[in-house]
Amino acid sequence: MSIFFVTAAGTEVGKTVVASVLCHQVRALGKRVRAVKPLITDFDKDCPEGTDTALLLEAQGLEVTPETIADISPWRFRAPLSPDMAARRENRTVDFEALIDYCAGQQRGDADVLLIEGIGGVMVPLTENLTVTDWIAVLDVPAILVTGSYLGSLSHGLTAAEAIRTKGVSVAAVVVSESPENPVPLEETVDTLRRFLRPIPVLALPRLDAGADAWRDAPDLTKALMPVF
Ligand SMILES: Nc1ncnc2c1ncn2[C@@H]1O[C@H](COP(=O)(O)OP(=O)(O)OP(=O)(O)O)[C@@H](O)[C@H]1O
Ligand SMILES: [Mg+2]
Repeated sequence: MSIFFVTAAGTEVGKTVVASVLCHQVRALGKRVRAVKPLITDFDKDCPEGTDTALLLEAQGLEVTPETIADISPWRFRAPLSPDMAARRENRTVDFEALIDYCAGQQRGDADVLLIEGIGGVMVPLTENLTVTDWIAVLDVPAILVTGSYLGSLSHGLTAAEAIRTKGVSVAAVVVSESPENPVPLEETVDTLRRFLRPIPVLALPRLDAGADAWRDAPDLTKALMPVF
């Protein structure tokens, strides 16, 4: 099984888009994929449409039901805040050990590829003293680092890469998911990141149209990530 933790330089840069594209591309290769979003905030149980959980289920060809939602996103919080803050609003906490156990359990499944989408950026607090980076480091799985191409994204992307590598996390690839507004052509951002991150593969994901079939326009992300494919 190939396992990747999909993390990012910040929130809203494209983790779910990248994970969804990968789900479709892996399935198109005839392989089994499982994608989970263990922790989700800003989640309204009466209105799951369009959430990361729903999008990942759809990309796996699964129905969005209370059972499938609970299966891939066991920790759901209402407030649109970092997990520790959102949990506190509900007088709850994020049980880090249970989170690790859940992810370890996924690794024993029968998929060919397992994608674990994190939450927010690499240094988002999960508990009093642990961040997403600690989560990836304890799982000891390679990361796919998603970054944008907006003005300022170079520093955000390189800082995020440095932060996770300092904790011993290996970066399988960086994906630059094109931002709505770009100061330079996407390839220029990609080339700059390549220069600083060599030999890590840096892949470009141009803006995709909305719609269920948009992934078909995406470049193949599987080759760089899963050379055995
Ligand atoms: N390459 C792209 N093409 C088109 N839209 C994109 C692209 N990358 C990101 N977006 C859009 O930007 C928004 C944020 O992307 P996405 O939800 O994938 O980010 P995220 O990192 O998963 O965010 P979160 O931190 O909330 O999980 C979404 O509306 C998404 O459709
Ligand atoms: Mg997301």
